[in-house]
Amino acid sequence: MIEAKGVCLEYPDGTMALKNIELSVKPGELVYVIGPSGSGKTSLLKLFMGAEYPTAGSLRVLGQHISKGQASRIRGLRRMIGPVFQDFRLIKGRTALENVMLGMRFLDIPSGCIRENAGNALKKVGLEQKMLSLVEHLSWGECQRVAIARAVSREPVLIIADEPTGNLDKDNALNILELLKSFRDDNKAIIITTHATHLIEDDRYAVHIRMDNGNMIMERPGELR
Ligand SMILES: Nc1ncnc2c1ncn2[C@@H]1O[C@H](COP(=O)(O)OP(=O)(O)OP(=O)(O)O)[C@@H](O)[C@H]1O
Ligand SMILES: [Mg+2]
Repeated sequence: MIEAKGVCLEYPDGTMALKNIELSVKPGELVYVIGPSGSGKTSLLKLFMGAEYPTAGSLRVLGQHISKGQASRIRGLRRMIGPVFQDFRLIKGRTALENVMLGMRFLDIPSGCIRENAGNALKKVGLEQKMLSLVEHLSWGECQRVAIARAVSREPVLIIADEPTGNLDKDNALNILELLKSFRDDNKAIIITTHATHLIEDDRYAVHIRMDNGNMIMERPGELR
């Protein structure tokens, strides 16, 4: 699903955010990316979503080359990805249901199904009672779950979640990780960045990657390898 060979990302100001990344992610895998602030976790996810391009090396995501000349194909690729952003990017003034429905715009989903899919996704994340609440009236953890519902309602083959446990207490963080993991199946891959290393220790199928100043250290290959 993801093949990275010698991938580097240098931002225009000269910051080397990623150095010589080698990674292969297979269908069915759960990948945790850990590491301190500024180590390159979000930069890595941006590459996988085609929001940045490698400045060296080669990267394929779901068979698509991630490089500057491929912009229109990369837009197509994004339809197959369910992103959960570090800052959620929910639209204020809209309800939870509307936010999830908006996430399905531009996908080939019949308009009659969009509302139903959105409702089902919100039920799955435990927000049945809050569907018609404006997102600005929801708690942090609830917003987190709306963002997850929006990502999964698109039926993506690659789920990418940036710090989904950020700002949550231990129980809620665990719930969010369990929720994300519940979407795992043989055809999907899930990539999660987190600071909450103490919460992810016991998952034997998971691949653990540590980022350190732009370098990637494979700490533990999952059992699928
Ligand atoms: N658009 C940008 N232009 C220049 N430098 C950037 C840009 N975005 C990120 N960086 C730098 O790249 C490095 C990696 O940043 P990144 O956001 O990937 O870290 P992170 O591991 O996600 O951190 P955090 O845990 O705080 O979210 C940092 O030094 C950061 O300052
Ligand atoms: Mg980050």
